[in-house]
Amino acid sequence: MNYDEFADLYDHQYDLYRDDLHFYAGIAQRAGGKVLEVGAGTGRVTTFLSRKGVDVIGLEPSARMIERARSRAARDGLQPQFVQGDVRTFRLDEQFSLLIAPFNALMHLYTPSEQLQALENLRTHAPKGTPFVFDLYVPRFGKMNTLRHEGETFHAPDGSRRDIFLVQRHNKARQHITTEYHVDTTQPDGRLTRQHYTLTQRYYTRYEVEWLLRFAGFESPKVTGSFQGGPLDSRSDVMVFQSRVI
Ligand SMILES: C[S@@+](CC[C@H](N)C(=O)[O-])C[C@H]1O[C@@H](n2cnc3c(N)ncnc32)[C@H](O)[C@@H]1O
Repeated sequence: MNYDEFADLYDHQYDLYRDDLHFYAGIAQRAGGKVLEVGAGTGRVTTFLSRKGVDVIGLEPSARMIERARSRAARDGLQPQFVQGDVRTFRLDEQFSLLIAPFNALMHLYTPSEQLQALENLRTHAPKGTPFVFDLYVPRFGKMNTLRHEGETFHAPDGSRRDIFLVQRHNKARQHITTEYHVDTTQPDGRLTRQHYTLTQRYYTRYEVEWLLRFAGFESPKVTGSFQGGPLDSRSDVMVFQSRVI
């Protein structure tokens, strides 16, 4: 999954998402030492950690996302390190004190082989006992195969507006949700242009992740349904996993 074409849209959609920031900062400060963030994207979490004095490397495959991440950090006078690479295959000549994969980064590992390859590779970059913390959406299925607008409208200083419409499709056999975004930009004079993007995510169930971690040499995780530590239950939107390298 290449996020290059998503970089602009991504920031429009998630720049203001802050639910997880203090959680990851607290974990990083308690761990001390160097942190590896998998799927750093446009540096939303990386920059926040860096601002809190955390020594963090953001691993990210998309050059365009890294470019935006560097500008975001620079605006705050920060220079966290970003490395272009894939969690399955990257090699860094260092060991980390904490591994994190915030905001669904692992949803771009589509098969058990890819997931195992990623976790085994991460394990070679962290000594025994290193915490591994990440969050994933609880699988939830809105109305499929239907064009929807979920209230995402962004107004630009030049008077234009962007409306995000989406259609989702569910591949049950593969546990994939594919979202097709139709982004309409309307100029003040009414002229309309439409861009099209497609994003496929692999959703996980809670016990699938627990087995995956155990199989890949990580401790059975603590699982919560929020970043504040509340239980995972039928109202939870997010699953937060806290494990360690065995
Ligand atoms: C949903 S975004 C999360 C971005 C960021 N963590 C945040 O919280 O805003 C998922 C990110 O994972 C990255 N990604 C996709 N496949 C990856 C892989 N194989 N290895 C590392 N990162 C990957 C994407 O490029 C994207 O930037």
